[in-house]
Amino acid sequence: MKEKLEQIRKITKEKIKDLKSMQELTDLKAKVLGKKGELTEILRGMKDLSAEERPIIGSMVNKVRDEIEDAIKEAQQNIEQALINKKLEEEKIDITLPSVKIKRGSKHPINRVIEEIEDLFVSMGYDVISGPELETDEYCFERLNLPKGHPARDMQDSFYITNEYLLRTQTSSVQARTMMANKNCEPIRMICTGKTYRREDDATHSHQFNQVEGLVIDKKERNVSLADLKGTLEVFVRKLIGENSRLRFRPSYFPFTEPSYEVDVNCFKCGGKGCNLCKETGWIEILGAGIVHPNVLKMNGYDPEKFGGFAFGTGIDRLAMFKYGITDMRYLYTNDIRFLNQFDRKD
Ligand code: PHE
Repeated sequence: MKEKLEQIRKITKEKIKDLKSMQELTDLKAKVLGKKGELTEILRGMKDLSAEERPIIGSMVNKVRDEIEDAIKEAQQNIEQALINKKLEEEKIDITLPSVKIKRGSKHPINRVIEEIEDLFVSMGYDVISGPELETDEYCFERLNLPKGHPARDMQDSFYITNEYLLRTQTSSVQARTMMANKNCEPIRMICTGKTYRREDDATHSHQFNQVEGLVIDKKERNVSLADLKGTLEVFVRKLIGENSRLRFRPSYFPFTEPSYEVDVNCFKCGGKGCNLCKETGWIEILGAGIVHPNVLKMNGYDPEKFGGFAFGTGIDRLAMFKYGITDMRYLYTNDIRFLNQFDRKD
């Protein structure tokens, strides 16, 4: 038995020296110290020994086991350290290498203009309200004084989805929604920005574009007048496009306002002298506006005897073109990186 113990000790210690992986180490540990291991085997055999031999062999087994356990522990530390060293070596990074430049996106010019418009009107006490792009005929036309078959519907070629649903041709639908939602007929001061759709596709029109719509309604005695509309639009255009902008109101027709106006701004290219952009007139049309038609008030729950106000609507894409001097609307939609880069965040 003594020889056997000595043999186990020698062979195991030899093997420990050769250990290369944690797996080998675990296997060896099980082979010698495990439940069915060689040393355990010897301990089990001790019951057959004489009473004198038993304590001697017992203490020998304990010594050998301690020795082997210590050696294994040491081997384990060595293997672990070797693994860490290997990992460190493999994952070494050269911190002096130049980094890969992360490109930052930029805000699209249309979004910039939308944000600027919203900030501007919020500062004048307006609410920003949104509405659905898939709209009903009722809100897009009927509640805006445009019954079915009305000739003015031809002003806006529409994408109908069903007989009742269409892609909204104008954000004016949100005017009607705001009035209808306001059951207590509180005064309204709102704008709505968003996408609109019309069946148009030439160089200066896109089938999808963006509008901003404004609506102010107050009690008759507050006397919201054309002067208020003019003042508001002047502040709006001057802040957005430039302090030198001048506005011109031309009588026009919209079914939802009476009187109605088309509003021109002096040409940003020639300053009003006349050029090819403004067709030698010095003016460019930018807005539709007017005093809210009594029928629109009535149809959306406001008594025209007691309430009055103004509304306006304009194409954001065109405003962006004026603001940034963009000559072709298609630049706004083709997402050419060379174009977009010019609007990189400088703020
Ligand atoms: N909704 C009109 C359009 O798209 C613009 C407009 C809005 C005119 C509000 C008057 C009042 O052409």
